[in-house]
Amino acid sequence: MIMDKGIDFDRIDLNSQPPAAEPWRQYYFIAGLRKYVKEESERMGRRLTANVTTFGCQMNARDSEKLSGILECAGYLLTETEEADLVIYNTCTVRDNANQRVYGRLGHINSIKKKNPHMKVALCGCMMQEESVIEKITKSYRFVDLIFGTHNIFQFAELLCTMFESDRTVINIWKDTDQIVEDLPTDRKYPFKSGINIMFGCNNFCSYCIVPYVRGRERSRDPEDILKEIEALAADGVVEIMLLGQNVNSYGKNLIPPVSFAKLLRKAEEIDGIERIRFMTSHPKDLSEELIEVMKQSKKICRHLHLPLQSGSTRILQAMNRRYTKEQYLDLVGKIRKEIPDIAITTDIIVGFPGETMDDIEETIDVVKKVRYENAFTFIYSKRTGTPAASMPDQVPSEVIKQGFDKLLSTVQEVAKERAALLRGKVLPALAEEMNDQDGTLITGRLSNNMIVHFPGSPSLLGKIIHVRLKECHGFYYLGEIAEGL
Ligand code: 5AD
Ligand code: SF4
Repeated sequence: MIMDKGIDFDRIDLNSQPPAAEPWRQYYFIAGLRKYVKEESERMGRRLTANVTTFGCQMNARDSEKLSGILECAGYLLTETEEADLVIYNTCTVRDNANQRVYGRLGHINSIKKKNPHMKVALCGCMMQEESVIEKITKSYRFVDLIFGTHNIFQFAELLCTMFESDRTVINIWKDTDQIVEDLPTDRKYPFKSGINIMFGCNNFCSYCIVPYVRGRERSRDPEDILKEIEALAADGVVEIMLLGQNVNSYGKNLIPPVSFAKLLRKAEEIDGIERIRFMTSHPKDLSEELIEVMKQSKKICRHLHLPLQSGSTRILQAMNRRYTKEQYLDLVGKIRKEIPDIAITTDIIVGFPGETMDDIEETIDVVKKVRYENAFTFIYSKRTGTPAASMPDQVPSEVIKQGFDKLLSTVQEVAKERAALLRGKVLPALAEEMNDQDGTLITGRLSNNMIVHFPGSPSLLGKIIHVRLKECHGFYYLGEIAEGL
């Protein structure tokens, strides 16, 4: 599902100089790429193929839709396999295992490229913003053709043109930016739902987190631009949107005049055709009463809040620079559950932060039991070079991490199962998202509270919101059936 902004790329004059202003400059380079791809395809007697592989969060997934949109506009056929003419990895560096996975995949790509020397390999995303990574790639992975970062992803078409003209690795990484370039083609994975960036970067500097260093300072998009994008998506058949930012609750604080996230949600709700609104991620310290009120009154905002806890120990929270205490977090959750009783709350938790003891982990387990999360993503602390936590003493012994992690995980699973079971027998609307991988007669649907339900149905229902009876609870998901007579 491609939105190419209605530009006639074939009418762009490639003999003229490229425009200086964006996005027109990129339209010029997309036109240049189209010419290149067409000529190569004719020479090879087949279409050129490209593969985009995404690591990490929803923000990266959305960035990859932009990369794919440009590639499609340029004439590439997008494929699922890495045996392609152009392979691009959109990387993540939030934990070290994400980095290791990229290096592993690069080893594999090297062997494919040896058999197919005209293949091009490009790398982008958060990992590329780290100097040590660039050093390693230029030394040990010299077959990579193009490397760029998070701030200049909008230049993808231009960078590809440079790559095709160069016989050396093209590296172009910006340290930071205040630029937001809009109106480039995107290729949505789903025709009926879409992510929308409302802000970029993060100013919180949680002491374990590398994101502020690789994604830069917080920048909010103009609300009018966001609303126009949502209107265009609705006109293109989108029924569900997810507003994306590292910390959506501080959206708009630095705009002139300032706008609150709650106000943006109110405006988004007025757009016809949009039936569901989600957002990600909320920092507890910035979650306002106004937001709770807007969610409570809304018919469209989904009954789901992802509210990262990270730790339940006030001492550790302070060392993490999270700027709330255990009690403040629990008070906030109490208020939310009271005002919006059918809401699902999910979270992120880190185990093994420097100096953490079993007593601290017990505090986290206590919060899990009190909040009764619908789901929690638990991570083992990963030391990120350059963050304050990396130089903190008392890295935690692996036995404590293992014991604490296992105990936490079993509590999370127990609580989540109990929460899920409360919905048994209910009839709830689900968005039919895809046909089930294992059983092609089943549709995979998503409830407003983000829970998954599988139910029999035909592909013609995909993209529709259907009332489903939740019959059998399987822990994190349900088996159900379409409710008749509604
Ligand atoms: N180690 C482990 N987990 C981390 N996260 C962020 N940085 C680290 C790290 N250094 C987790 C946090 C965050 C999620 C996206 O990733 O829980 O909410
Ligand atoms: Fe990282 Fe904290 Fe910003 Fe989230 S809020 S991206 S954990 S620094």
